[in-house]
Amino acid sequence: MDPSLRGLDLEAHLTDPARKQQFVTPMFDIIAPRYDAFTRVFSFGMDAGWKRALLDLVAPRVAQGGTVIDGACGTGDLAFQLQARRPDLVITGVDASTRMIALAQAGAARGPSFVVGDLGALPAADGTLDAITAGYGYRNTPDWRAALADAARALKPGGVLATLDFHRPANALWRALFLGYLRVAGELVGWAWHGHGIVYGYIAPSIAHFCTLAEWEHELARLGFVIEAHEVRLLGGVAWMVARKR
Ligand SMILES: C[S@@+](CC[C@H](N)C(=O)[O-])C[C@H]1O[C@@H](n2cnc3c(N)ncnc32)[C@H](O)[C@@H]1O
Repeated sequence: MDPSLRGLDLEAHLTDPARKQQFVTPMFDIIAPRYDAFTRVFSFGMDAGWKRALLDLVAPRVAQGGTVIDGACGTGDLAFQLQARRPDLVITGVDASTRMIALAQAGAARGPSFVVGDLGALPAADGTLDAITAGYGYRNTPDWRAALADAARALKPGGVLATLDFHRPANALWRALFLGYLRVAGELVGWAWHGHGIVYGYIAPSIAHFCTLAEWEHELARLGFVIEAHEVRLLGGVAWMVARKR
C-alpha cells in the first residue's frame, strides 16, 4: 500500500478539499490494474448497462466532428465506447491518476488520446468543447461544484455534459442500508484484493459526502444547464443524465 494511505483519517480527507485529492489519486493508482474487474464485480455487472444507457443518450447529441473530453476517464471505458459509436469525434480522456492513464494509453490505437489532468481544471480553452463525459468522476474531485463550474466554462453554448455517478440517497433509511452495504462489501474486497480495506471502503463515505440527485440537478440548473434526459436507479443511489449548456 502507498505509505500516504497508511493510518489515514478518511473523514478528515473527505471533508477537506485541500486534502481529498492527496488521498484519492494514490488510491486510484493502487487500484488501477484491477479497476475494471472491480467495477464489474462490485456493481453485479450493472455498470456496463448503466454506461451503455448513458452512451445511448449522449452519442446522438454531440455535434459532427466535435471535440470531447472524458473527464476522470480511468482506464478509458467511456472514451473507447463513445469513439466506437462516433468515429468522427476527437476524444481526449483526462485523469488525475498516472497509472489509470498508462492503462488507457495501451488501447489508444482505438482512437481517443489520454492525458494526466484535472476534471476540475479541464485542459480546454473557454467555450471550446462540444461534450464532456464523466463516469463516477465528479464525486471523486475535491470540490464537485467547482468542477461542474469548470465544465460550464469549457463547453460551447449548446455543448453537452453527460454524467453517471452514485448519489447520496435522500431517504434516511435507504441511505443507511445502501451505504452500509457498500461500506462492508468495499472493505472486504479492498482487504481481499489489495490488503487494505480503505481502497474500496472509500466508496461509501465518498457517496455520503457527495450530493443528492436533487442537489446535483439544482447545481446544474444554477450553472445554466438544461437536463435533456436522465435515468435514476437504486432509489436515487445512482443516476446518469445528459445536460445541455444554454
Ligand atoms: C471511479 S473511477 C471512474 C473511471 C471511469 N470514468 C469509469 O467510469 O469507469 C474515478 C476516476 O476519477 C479519477 N479522478 C479523481 N480525481 C480526479 C480529478 N480531480 N481529476 C481527474 N480525475 C480524477 C481517478 O483517478 C479515477 O480514475
